[in-house]
Amino acid sequence: MYTKPTTPTPRTSVTAPVLQQRKKSGDKIAMLTCYDASFAAHFDSAGIDAVLVGDSLGMVIQGRSSTLPVTLDHMIYHCAAVARGMQAPLLIADLPFMSYRDVPTALVSAARLIGEGEAEMVKLEGAGWALEVITALAERDVAVCAHLGLTPQSVHKLGGYRVQGKQSEDAERLLADAHAVAAAGAALLVLECVPAELATRITSEVSIPVIGIGAGAGCDGQVLVLYDMLGITPGRRPRFSKDFLRGHDSIDAALVAYVEAVRDSSFPGPEHAW
Ligand code: KIV
Repeated sequence: MYTKPTTPTPRTSVTAPVLQQRKKSGDKIAMLTCYDASFAAHFDSAGIDAVLVGDSLGMVIQGRSSTLPVTLDHMIYHCAAVARGMQAPLLIADLPFMSYRDVPTALVSAARLIGEGEAEMVKLEGAGWALEVITALAERDVAVCAHLGLTPQSVHKLGGYRVQGKQSEDAERLLADAHAVAAAGAALLVLECVPAELATRITSEVSIPVIGIGAGAGCDGQVLVLYDMLGITPGRRPRFSKDFLRGHDSIDAALVAYVEAVRDSSFPGPEHAW
């Protein structure tokens, strides 16, 4: 039976300004996804900085082929569970597909994720039309994480889960989008599946911390899907991921190994990037 930890590890709680400070100091940020209280209870002592309740739960929890069927109610349910399980890491939650399609809808969705789900930051995909949503949320003091590169909610438009920004025109657009989301008020940026050289350039140019997944070691931090890094996702593991449970005898040891590898930049290696 799950019991809430009574003696939380004495770490300073991670906040958006703490992550901003980490960009300045160059100390890498270790982030993972999580979907329930039992796994979350392992995160405090492992030293994970930020936890993302990702809409990837549609795939790894619900067994769907994309994130598109995930609803706001699903996100709130899982976010509240994670919030009950951990103390220190910053709790970020995805706004699911179409829940931020315009400003009024986004404000209501974010209010529910924060109020009912206890999220401390909300993540949304894209730039362009989404910039006014980021601005509206940031103006109301909602901490926003932008997500660029491979944006899984656009899978049908993109034509699959592919590396983005390989052509110079696409790379320039991604760079411009990264500047635009930061200017709109995003506090954090996730860059998914973009060439390492481009991700490093974006990280050095934008003022906000950049967290990579399949974007090389030059980002300010890394995020992986928890089940991928424990090697329990069914099917083929994505190239950018690594099974940290292999060679370790417990989930705690695997989490600590991940945090250490992110901090000393030994993960991701060139074999995990493009
Ligand atoms: O939903 C998710 O888990 C994500 C990560 C892959 C960054 O967006």
